[in-house]
Amino acid sequence: MKKIIILASGSGSNAENIITHFKHNPNITIAAVLTNKKTAGVLERCQRLKVPTLVFDREAFYHSTLVLDVIASQEPALIVLAGFLWKIPQSFIDRFPNQIINIHPALLPKYGGKGMYGHHVHKAVKDHAETETGITIHYVNEHYDEGAIIKQENVAVLPSDSVDDIAKKVHQLEQAHFPKVIHNLLVSHG
Ligand code: GAR
Repeated sequence: MKKIIILASGSGSNAENIITHFKHNPNITIAAVLTNKKTAGVLERCQRLKVPTLVFDREAFYHSTLVLDVIASQEPALIVLAGFLWKIPQSFIDRFPNQIINIHPALLPKYGGKGMYGHHVHKAVKDHAETETGITIHYVNEHYDEGAIIKQENVAVLPSDSVDDIAKKVHQLEQAHFPKVIHNLLVSHG
């Protein structure tokens, strides 16, 4: 059985989509969802979907090995950041090389980096009158949003699109592609 650990900080729509996608897969399972936010919507979703969760704080994440130890004890094939907003410590990257992936709601290298998440990204796309945006799924390295790109998908942005319209288009791409990319990675890693 290949295990996925998901890290999420927000509403958890991507986490839910991934969990649902692999629900009936006999070879792949979501071992746990970890979050840094005790009020995150993802916790409610996991309760409903019967996926174990763990809430941790800054101290445990950055100044102890607690979170890393919990993850390592599961021997995950893949660690998936699904709207996780804290920077990943170097110790995680060293321990799980090429096994941590992130989804970013824009076409990196555009609109990435610290503070660029969720609505901030879509607003920046609108403010710059971009004619397209999309999603980037990439490996996580020591720099925010800079690891090797695994997959990008584009969508057109119309001048009449509001920031919310852009968010909806990107959300649709996330829902359509993220689980498939995860699936392909797990299958191709043998
Ligand atoms: C998603 O749009 C994801 O791409 C984004 O956060 C959202 C989480 O939504 N991630 C980033 O901005 C990372 N920099 P969700 O909690 O509903 O899955």
